[in-house]
Amino acid sequence: MPMVGFGTWQLRGSAGYDAIRQALEAGYRHIDTATMYGNEAEVGQALRDSGLDRRQVFLTTKLPPGRVGRERQTLCASLRALGTDYVDLWLVHWPPAARAVNPVWHEFLALRDEGKTRAVGVSNYSIRQIDSLIQASGVAPVVNQVPWSPALHDPQVLAANRERQVTVEGYSPLKGTNLNDPVLAEVAAAHGVTPAQVVLRWHIEHRIPVIPKSARPDRIAANLDLFGFSLSPGEAARIDALSRR
Ligand SMILES: NC(=O)c1ccc[n+]([C@@H]2O[C@H](COP(=O)([O-])OP(=O)(O)OC[C@H]3O[C@@H](n4cnc5c(N)ncnc54)[C@H](OP(=O)(O)O)[C@@H]3O)[C@@H](O)[C@H]2O)c1
Repeated sequence: MPMVGFGTWQLRGSAGYDAIRQALEAGYRHIDTATMYGNEAEVGQALRDSGLDRRQVFLTTKLPPGRVGRERQTLCASLRALGTDYVDLWLVHWPPAARAVNPVWHEFLALRDEGKTRAVGVSNYSIRQIDSLIQASGVAPVVNQVPWSPALHDPQVLAANRERQVTVEGYSPLKGTNLNDPVLAEVAAAHGVTPAQVVLRWHIEHRIPVIPKSARPDRIAANLDLFGFSLSPGEAARIDALSRR
């Protein structure tokens, strides 16, 4: 999974298509969508029109809570809308009601074994809920996609997921951040970048894949332009400390 993906929540219709095309042109090779976002067709069209080979782009989509019990139909509908015969990662978007947790996961594993998705994971799961999946199936989700940002940084949650071989993927990295924070402004000035780039780079320093969304071409490009600088351990620690304010 490329460390930086393009988030697509609220990117629909022709404006959504344009943003996804711009993201692919800017170099993103990881797109995060969901049945719930209503934009899988736009993602698929943008991918085809980009001229990129399907295998060059890591595609994630998600099962919404309202489709619990209809996992197969939902994934097949996603594949049709995306115009592909597999996704790279399929996530349970939110934990279902307790009685459905394990049946949903068994169905996910069956569809993975059929090759309709290369990997399966979850989103918005607690450690307790992940443990319940592991206990029932012996298989841990490869990813737990959860909100993450300096303000939400929680080393214990990160470590607990990692102990179970679960990769924490961070969503809403910018929305969850005060981009006017003086610490971010100072670090950004030291590197000649923006506070948003500092926040996204901070995720990378923590080995947390991150999926910023933007509808603006300049921000789409800047949010991927993170590999020409790095944060010192001291700078990363100052940003970690924003969670304790
Ligand atoms: N699994 C889940 O339950 C879940 C939940 C929420 C989100 N997600 C995924 O995570 C992705 C990202 O999360 P998100 O969309 O909630 O929030 P986000 O990416 O943290 O923030 C998006 C907001 O930040 C603005 N922005 C983007 N780049 C910026 C920059 N460089 N400087 C200043 N502002 C900037 C955007 O405005 P403009 O568009 O105007 O630039 C938009 O208002 C989603 O798109 C979705 O794919 C998953």
